[in-house]
Amino acid sequence: MTVNSKQRFIRKILLMALSFGVLALMITATGALAHERNTLVPRGHSEYTPSPIPDRVMLMLTASPHISQAVNWRTNAEVDQSIAQIVPADGRPGLHRDARTVTGNHQSIKTENGQAHYHAVTFTDLEPDTLYAYRVIGDETWSEWFQFKTAPAQDRPFSFFYFGDAQNSVRSHFSRVIREAFMQNARPAFMLHAGDMVNLREGNHDDEWGEWFDAGAFLNAMIPSAVVAGNHEFVDRPFRLQRAISPQFQPQFTTPQNGPEGLQDTVYHITYQDTLIVVMDSMNALYDDDHAKAQAEWLDQLLQKSNHRWVIVSHHHPIHSVSVGRDNPPLREHWQPIYERHGVDLVLQGHDHTYGRGSSAPLPDSNRAQHNGPVYVVSVAGPKMYMIADEDNPNMDRMAEELQLYQTIEVSKDRIHFQAWTAAGKLYDAFAIVQDEKGQTTLDNLIPMDRPIHRCTNPDMPESDRCWNGKELISSPNH
Ligand SMILES: [Fe+2]
Repeated sequence: MTVNSKQRFIRKILLMALSFGVLALMITATGALAHERNTLVPRGHSEYTPSPIPDRVMLMLTASPHISQAVNWRTNAEVDQSIAQIVPADGRPGLHRDARTVTGNHQSIKTENGQAHYHAVTFTDLEPDTLYAYRVIGDETWSEWFQFKTAPAQDRPFSFFYFGDAQNSVRSHFSRVIREAFMQNARPAFMLHAGDMVNLREGNHDDEWGEWFDAGAFLNAMIPSAVVAGNHEFVDRPFRLQRAISPQFQPQFTTPQNGPEGLQDTVYHITYQDTLIVVMDSMNALYDDDHAKAQAEWLDQLLQKSNHRWVIVSHHHPIHSVSVGRDNPPLREHWQPIYERHGVDLVLQGHDHTYGRGSSAPLPDSNRAQHNGPVYVVSVAGPKMYMIADEDNPNMDRMAEELQLYQTIEVSKDRIHFQAWTAAGKLYDAFAIVQDEKGQTTLDNLIPMDRPIHRCTNPDMPESDRCWNGKELISSPNH
């Protein structure tokens, strides 16, 4: 190599290194900016550092919630023991005297908020339909005593909450939704989160998880949950060539681990009395056809064996999309035929940042129709709002833009009564699936008469396909 070509070579290498450096800085800056704008945590402030006191206490549904209950919590790295105490609740303060001590395990995770231990304990051999008190250990301290109720063994009416994407400005805007749901309807049997609970897909975005746990606060520790993994629960590796579930997801959400091989953290089923609840992983299904097929086969076998009166399925991406530019054909190809063949009753979804409810065949003009196949619902709980693609969408009987919503779903022997409520507690949509003795279902359309379809009202829409980004809502008072 001549001196000149050597110099050119070195210059080229230096130029490449510089380009990479600039690119890395841009990626970091973009991440930091997005991070800064999506939470209420001021720049440079550590709001969510793990401490000796347990936080992020989270009850998770097991496969058999009438006899067992899982709990997760977080502490700093000083707490090596994962210990909880549980006792049937009564009015006396000496709960610890008769409490049973249960040991579990923990995982250590380092985030921008420091090293944390994520603990998991499962209470077993519980009595059905019983109020329990429990607490979890910290470093020379405990959490407060929380209370929860196990599922009844016998078939009895129950209700649960279903939330679409919280995702953006979670503490600022999702908190009022989950809290209003609770204020209007105390002690639901459980809560279902249909994915995209947080937003950032770079790094481990621990402040966003901190905000999500703050939004639900003590409700998370007293009402069991089931969680769906959405696309934003997956972290993109550099240049988005690979993806991995958020590092906190499995350690903070114990799932029943009864799904297909390799997908047990995000695919599972729960039997709540005579209702089968199935959680699917649409993110992996849409990335890889083999994952879609594996879940389809697993579900087909599960439903062949099932003799539950009701079957409710939840995944993040919708079978029938509502919003501009959205469509997920692989889910219709691989999953929808199984839902229809086995008579799934209800499919609860998110992702589109709009509201949509309908079925594969539109309802006739009369408000009651013989009904085969599931009712599909898309909803959104957080403030990011997209635009609906088509007001005459043949798959939708009810739609909305720009409404933060929560849903209450009452399940009884002969009826599922579904209601969608705005964050202000106003009924926006309702229907009932009624099942007769032969298993034939009828759909009652119960849309409130005085509520026309809600369209975007924001005069400063950030883009033509979205009403709100969700992050512009929390810029600091000085900006
Ligand atoms: Fe999504």
